[in-house]
Amino acid sequence: MTVIASLSLRPRVVAFDAYGTLFDVHSAVRRLASRMGPEAAAFSALWRAKQLEYSWVLTLAGHYRDFWLLTQDALDHAFAVFPSVDPALRPDLLAAYRTLSAYPEAAGTLSRLRASGLQTCILSNGETGMLADAVGSAGLGPLLDAALSIDAVRVFKTAPAAYQMVCDTFRVAPAEIVLVSSNRWDVAGASAFGFTTVWVNRAGNPREYAGFDPVATVADLDGVG
Ligand code: LAC
Repeated sequence: MTVIASLSLRPRVVAFDAYGTLFDVHSAVRRLASRMGPEAAAFSALWRAKQLEYSWVLTLAGHYRDFWLLTQDALDHAFAVFPSVDPALRPDLLAAYRTLSAYPEAAGTLSRLRASGLQTCILSNGETGMLADAVGSAGLGPLLDAALSIDAVRVFKTAPAAYQMVCDTFRVAPAEIVLVSSNRWDVAGASAFGFTTVWVNRAGNPREYAGFDPVATVADLDGVG
């Protein structure tokens, strides 16, 4: 039985994180692997880690700079840390990031959830335009009732105002919303807000954020619904 079907309270909306959950953030570097050199994986990991760090630090400090700009800031930091990676790859890496690959089971999962009468959406820290490009290139638009960017509230997850967007958009209470994320920090934030949460733990990462736990952990999106 899938997670959604096993819940005692039937949700009304299933919200998905975008980057890392529906879209493979490392697919940009992988597409250019032949030109990246041996440090490609470490470069991609740092690019992602810095992108997230910038979003949290700015939000805590009461500032906002959109996620597309932070993605570029983080990429430039990764180039500075890894001189072996040619900075001339910058435009191609950024173009690839606009059209990240969706995980192969993403479309099937969204289709099944909607066929069972649930509403689906994305709730992402991604800037509106980059999110639209990723959704469009992956063909996921028709499978989503909304693609919500925190651009509208100018604070990044894990701020409560970011999660509140789902409640406001669908006019439902937190308890009627399931948030699915591969990012454990996002699962923690959404759980703290009052959502039911599912952690997609593809990498088999260890437990963390005790007390802000998902109701279930799955290996990929197929386990969700
Ligand atoms: C998202 C990223 C940050 O919110 O994972 O889509």
